[in-house]
Amino acid sequence: MNSPLLSVEGLSKRFGGLQALSDVTFAVNTGEIVGLIGPNGAGKSTLFSTLVGLHRPSAGKVALNGRDVTGLRPHVIAANGLTKTFQNVSLFAGSSVLENVLIGGLVHSRVASARGFAMDCLERVGISDIAQRSAGSLSFPERARVEVARALCTRPKVLLLDEVMAALNTAEMDEIISLIRDLRKDGLTVVIVEHHMRAIMSVCDRIFVLNFGQLIADGPPAHIARHPEVVKAYLGREHDV
Ligand SMILES: Nc1ncnc2c1ncn2[C@@H]1O[C@H](COP(=O)(O)OP(=O)(O)OP(=O)(O)O)[C@@H](O)[C@H]1O
Ligand SMILES: [Mg+2]
Repeated sequence: MNSPLLSVEGLSKRFGGLQALSDVTFAVNTGEIVGLIGPNGAGKSTLFSTLVGLHRPSAGKVALNGRDVTGLRPHVIAANGLTKTFQNVSLFAGSSVLENVLIGGLVHSRVASARGFAMDCLERVGISDIAQRSAGSLSFPERARVEVARALCTRPKVLLLDEVMAALNTAEMDEIISLIRDLRKDGLTVVIVEHHMRAIMSVCDRIFVLNFGQLIADGPPAHIARHPEVVKAYLGREHDV
């Protein structure tokens, strides 16, 4: 059997007296689209930040393609193929869309060569026409695509998306879902944090549930939608899948 692309073992993160992540263990296989859900403050963003090296774990191990990347610096982890988008995105409002995206490419190359690949990434997410627009002037759906393009520009194997659909309406969300499916066809593996259950349930092969920093469930959408502990902790009611 192939080893998982992303493997997380016993990951914990403590902020002072707050145990934000407790002994989190899971694995993601190549080509999967996995959802990560849970109540506000459950530790989803902290998990992403710890995986990509923005937080140093208090305990545990992160391996990418069999290589231990625990505790490495963020740009090194990105260069190894693990990248996340940021919740509450802070694009550089005074810079162009292209400049915002090519920042991601600087993990691998200098500005001149990053520029061409940044254009390819904008093309991939369907917004090459707004490359020269100021990032401060974008609509929510455009910003979501710029965020994805910026992450793609680091050439990830595993892409972690933190609430990129937060401000979108149903039709706009469907377009991003379709983009995520296309990215999987390109060979990407994707982990999605999102509070929109319709989006999560429709696009994910598997869903992990975090509650108070602990993984309380892991399974296909139909299983998670009816999981008593998940319904109680987060969903509030059973969902149709
Ligand atoms: N840098 C930090 N320092 C101290 N506490 C933090 C820090 N980042 C997050 N926390 C705390 O860790 C817990 C988990 O926060 P986190 O942002 O990971 O939750 P989340 O699941 O992403 O929530 P949401 O759905 O609201 O985005 C919260 O109690 C939060 O206040
Ligand atoms: Mg969050």
